[in-house]
Amino acid sequence: MTTEFQATCRNAGVIPVIEIDDAAMAADLGHAIEAGGLSVVELTLRTPAALSALTAMKAACPFLTVGMGTVLCADDAKRAADAGADFLVSPGLTDNLAKAAKTLSLSFLPGVATPTDLMRAYDHGFNFLKFFPAEATGGISYLKALSGPFGGVTFCPTGGIGPDQVSAYLSQPNVICVGGSWVARKALIKAQDWDGIKRNARKANAAVKAS
Ligand code: 3PG
Repeated sequence: MTTEFQATCRNAGVIPVIEIDDAAMAADLGHAIEAGGLSVVELTLRTPAALSALTAMKAACPFLTVGMGTVLCADDAKRAADAGADFLVSPGLTDNLAKAAKTLSLSFLPGVATPTDLMRAYDHGFNFLKFFPAEATGGISYLKALSGPFGGVTFCPTGGIGPDQVSAYLSQPNVICVGGSWVARKALIKAQDWDGIKRNARKANAAVKAS
């Protein structure tokens, strides 16, 4: 069954993965991404500003779907939900985190890298997963190998994927969307290079449309 969250991610095609140091930049950043044609972002819970940045981005960009990534434990999930996260992303999965996401009734994209990870996630009821770290784990050939035994599972590959690989990933039947930090790198945000981020988002969107 395709959930509304999966449909939203498929429509976006590329999800910028963003580390933000200053919540005051969240509104301009969100606007640049929207102006470039992307509609879903993952802010990572790696900086003290991440939670307030998420709240600020959602307030400034009501049509943007804003998730919290690098959610590592149940407490992270709760704090992300309190900040208004539309969905949660984690690099891996624990039983506690799976239970917390379900209790919070939030869409959740848990990270997996091995068949055993997949089976554990599937056991918890998740069948749309973050394949991480995608390139280091084996990239597209690994995804092809997984498609046999895990025919009902779809992925958001993330990790080491650049703009020139987007189309190849999106053309895999078990790939719904891809994630990547290249759209809005820290240095671009720090320099307030909103035009540069908009250009990157446009390039990503063009690759999505061409796939
Ligand atoms: C992450 O969580 O850091 C993402 O996987 C981003 O990876 P990238 O920087 O290789 O795009």
